[in-house]
Amino acid sequence: KKRIAVLTSGGDAQGMCAVVRSVVRAGIYLNCEVFGCYEGYSGLVKGGDLLKKLEWGDVRGWLSLGGTLIGTARCMEFKEREGRLLAAKNMILKGIDALVVCGGDGSLTGADLFRSEWPSLVEELIEKNILTKEACENYRNLTIVGLVGSIDNDMSLTDTTIGAFSSLERICEMVDYIDSTAASHSRAFVVEVMGRNCGWLALMAGICCGADYSFLPEIPPNSLTWKDELKEICKRHKEKGRRKTTVIVAEGAIDNELNKITSEEVKDCLVEIGLDTRITTLGHVQRGGTAVAIDRCLSTLQGVEAINAVLENTPTTPSPMIAIQNNRIVRVPLVDAVSKTKYIAQCIKEKKFEEAIKYRDSTFKE
Ligand code: F6P
Repeated sequence: KKRIAVLTSGGDAQGMCAVVRSVVRAGIYLNCEVFGCYEGYSGLVKGGDLLKKLEWGDVRGWLSLGGTLIGTARCMEFKEREGRLLAAKNMILKGIDALVVCGGDGSLTGADLFRSEWPSLVEELIEKNILTKEACENYRNLTIVGLVGSIDNDMSLTDTTIGAFSSLERICEMVDYIDSTAASHSRAFVVEVMGRNCGWLALMAGICCGADYSFLPEIPPNSLTWKDELKEICKRHKEKGRRKTTVIVAEGAIDNELNKITSEEVKDCLVEIGLDTRITTLGHVQRGGTAVAIDRCLSTLQGVEAINAVLENTPTTPSPMIAIQNNRIVRVPLVDAVSKTKYIAQCIKEKKFEEAIKYRDSTFKE
């Protein structure tokens, strides 16, 4: 029987439990054995009880859960070759030569590096007499399949990452709560949202909550004029009878000269036009709670596709990432998705903002 390990890595995201459930059950259905690798890549590096076979019933009830019940970590040891050597040894000892990784771009880059190094890691294990040639005989190639679990929705070549819509839902709930008190007191609220260098959550929160203004890294305002523009817009909305003022700030917000725009600066502008203003940094509530329907659906369909991809993989197929494009679950080369995502960050650093937007999902283009 083919043995496959599944792990979650990097920041958790709603839908990761549903991914594990789907991978385990699709694997069992297709006659494989699936191992849960606990605590992200640390589970591979440490092995032992952290690599545990999961049965159908072990993942019962995991469909809607938030967080990840197999744990996650940003594992430093795996960044070193020595750590990856231990990981290869532990996998071979358990008879595992396929890995489904659910995480963000950093975690998926690590996975692809692991695959490219695998043959040389196996050679090293034999040369150093850690494992015998016979023990390694059937494990000369590693299959990696990536699933994108991240609230940030920052991966290229997929319209949506697992967790992004749940996080957006959480933001909307929180802004709705804020709205009632804001309207009661005729106050302004600056709401800071997560997303690292991606403005998707801030953009969508602005649309879904009817904010006065959203600050996004990809569409930075003019460094010389943004303060006056913000004041003018909020003043105009007030004059039209709006009681509350809501400004969304992405945690990675910048101006067109790459200066960081802070919630404090935004607050100061609103105070200058006479608004009683508060700042709410939403923080980790955005990663909490149950997965919304679209994330349960994405996790389940993509988990099944990950197992199909493992079973159809050959040593020469590039590692696939399971994506969704135009409502279709598709496979794209993992390296392409990662390199395009890195390219966006580079474009922003070089102030090529329009070019950056080309590689973000369609929401930005529209
Ligand atoms: O990548 C997900 C994310 O929640 C980002 O939006 C945020 O910047 C970061 O992780 C927070 O990381 P931590 O949980 O380590 O504070």
